[in-house]
Amino acid sequence: MNFTEILTHWYSDNKRNLPWRETKNPYNIWLSEIILQQTQIKQGLPYYEAFVNHFPTVFDLANASEEQVLKLWQGLGYYSRARNLHSAAKFIASECNGIFPSTYSEIIKLKGVGDYTASAIASICFDEPTAVVDGNVYRVLSRYFGLDTPINSTKGIKEFKAIASTLIDHERPGDYNQAIMEFGAMQCKPKNPYCIVCPLKDSCKALQNGLVEKLPVKLKKTKITKKHINFLVLISSDKQTIFEKRTSKGIWRNLYQFPLIESETPLQTENFRSHKEVVNYFNGSTFEFSLYNTTDVIHKLSHQHLHTRFWIIEIDQLPKAGMPITSLQSFPAPVLISNFIEEFGF
Ligand code: ADE
Repeated sequence: MNFTEILTHWYSDNKRNLPWRETKNPYNIWLSEIILQQTQIKQGLPYYEAFVNHFPTVFDLANASEEQVLKLWQGLGYYSRARNLHSAAKFIASECNGIFPSTYSEIIKLKGVGDYTASAIASICFDEPTAVVDGNVYRVLSRYFGLDTPINSTKGIKEFKAIASTLIDHERPGDYNQAIMEFGAMQCKPKNPYCIVCPLKDSCKALQNGLVEKLPVKLKKTKITKKHINFLVLISSDKQTIFEKRTSKGIWRNLYQFPLIESETPLQTENFRSHKEVVNYFNGSTFEFSLYNTTDVIHKLSHQHLHTRFWIIEIDQLPKAGMPITSLQSFPAPVLISNFIEEFGF
């Protein structure tokens, strides 16, 4: 048996039963693939179920409000993915009569859909032999063929796509694509892969040359910057707070947050009251304050680490209109804020 046959056999014996493997409906496959770009299968499963239950068809998703979509997405991160999902659903509903495009070259035109997702949908739903290349595929191919081209270089991206395209099973491209991804996730894992019982062990270059731990090769990323974020959790005497929709561009656009002050260095209890932006914000009103979290909540993004502090501020009257503290849970918010709301309990 060759590489492709071994993988597809392995897949039919070992694949996990997952709800999106029971259907070829492109709407469902699209949802699952967009969600799975954000998270592992186990964590993605409840999100998939929630989306399918709330929005059984592309029309339901198209007719939802952005706030509903963001709320369901909450916790997955990279909210632009959810916004793109929503706008692509609106496009399919209004411009395509709800009929999902059926070829790689049409599917890739959808907002938020790149080479990976278009290949996955075209192969799984429409039997088009377009090879997927995700993190699992990079790992399996680089190890099996002993390839050390960096997988995040332009050369590597081209090279691995070309190799993957020569390996795809033209009879069952969707099964082959899922087989290699599943094999990477379950067998050829990043750490402690099961080489002893691997069905490809006799011809795996990395295993023969002791390079399993060294492959795939990835170029070092650009420097990560550190940001200091302070959230002002105001509590008025009539139990109101300020929770505002972010309008500025960026990953948290249209999500809700407490008033935010960014500082050059970590704000301390000693210098909080005299910080320029704090002074400006309160404009002479008196308030009591305390720092809620003794260690920073750190939120890691690809290029930035956000070091976050929540300041509890008791004040007679809010500096502007607020909302009841009890209503906070119903708004979509970045996960570090919704975790705080849950933990603090008000
Ligand atoms: N990871 C993301 N999508 C997948 C799929 N369809 N099969 C296996 N692993 C995946």
